[in-house]
Amino acid sequence: MKVAGEVVLITGAGGGIGRALAREARRRGAAGLILSDLPGPGLESIAAETGALAIAGDLRDPDFIPALVQQGEAALGPVGIACANAGTAAGWIEKGIITAPGDEIWALAWEVNVLSHVRLSRAVLPGMIARGRGHLLQTISAAGLLTAPGAATYSATKHAALGLAESIAIAHGKDGIGVTALCPQGVDTAMLADVKDEATRADGVMSAEEVAALGFDGVEAGQFLVTPHERVRRYMTKKAGDYEGWIISMQEYKARMRR
Ligand SMILES: NC(=O)c1ccc[n+]([C@@H]2O[C@H](COP(=O)([O-])OP(=O)(O)OC[C@H]3O[C@@H](n4cnc5c(N)ncnc54)[C@H](O)[C@@H]3O)[C@@H](O)[C@H]2O)c1
Repeated sequence: MKVAGEVVLITGAGGGIGRALAREARRRGAAGLILSDLPGPGLESIAAETGALAIAGDLRDPDFIPALVQQGEAALGPVGIACANAGTAAGWIEKGIITAPGDEIWALAWEVNVLSHVRLSRAVLPGMIARGRGHLLQTISAAGLLTAPGAATYSATKHAALGLAESIAIAHGKDGIGVTALCPQGVDTAMLADVKDEATRADGVMSAEEVAALGFDGVEAGQFLVTPHERVRRYMTKKAGDYEGWIISMQEYKARMRR
């Protein structure tokens, strides 16, 4: 689906990849932009810069996403492209038991990295299906394909987000719904600055602008999987062809990593 002429909604738009998605959507001629994030200057400034409607709120609040879509559509018209981009890296650990982060951290990762995608899809899909057209751009991660050695919270929830994206693509492709799963490795954002795990940087750190452009290229091409870092497809092929060998190579990689 072309971005030009569409209303585009983006979560996590106050910084990083979300802010870059907002600029890229504007550059490609989006008809309207609905930007959301936690309240703060990041959201206000990107909304002012791109002439967008800013709606602040916490995605963990079950009432927030339905209200976001309702208010956004009342102001700007039906959402054509919904970008579930907000995410959290909570639960990254440098040593110790990988599942050690407490239940509240697991719940946070689940709610932000997965449940917010579920809720956004529930809010936009009925209208999109009724119109016979729409696209979901889900910012996931290469950790959803390959597992980040330093974070079970992140890897497990990003795998779940990918499973969700596949489910929607399979169930609703024939209803005119496209899905793009954007799965980068390291991207130069505030989130990466908080993550010490060197695996996220091993194949180079891309800019948020490059990744956002590739994400919308994927949307416009109707592509399901977008892997901005070139090596990710090779790792996937290795994993699919020899799962045991892939686990062993990841164990060896983890053992070599700084602790
Ligand atoms: N930076 C990387 O290396 C990298 C790599 C792969 C995937 N990703 C994914 O890209 C997406 C964007 O992350 P980023 O790198 O731009 O980092 P970021 O920290 O700049 O952006 C994440 C945004 O999500 C928002 N957010 C978090 N919890 C929220 C909540 N409860 N309610 C509303 N908003 C909330 C934050 O306020 C923030 O603006 C995330 O899904 C992340 O997992 C990032």
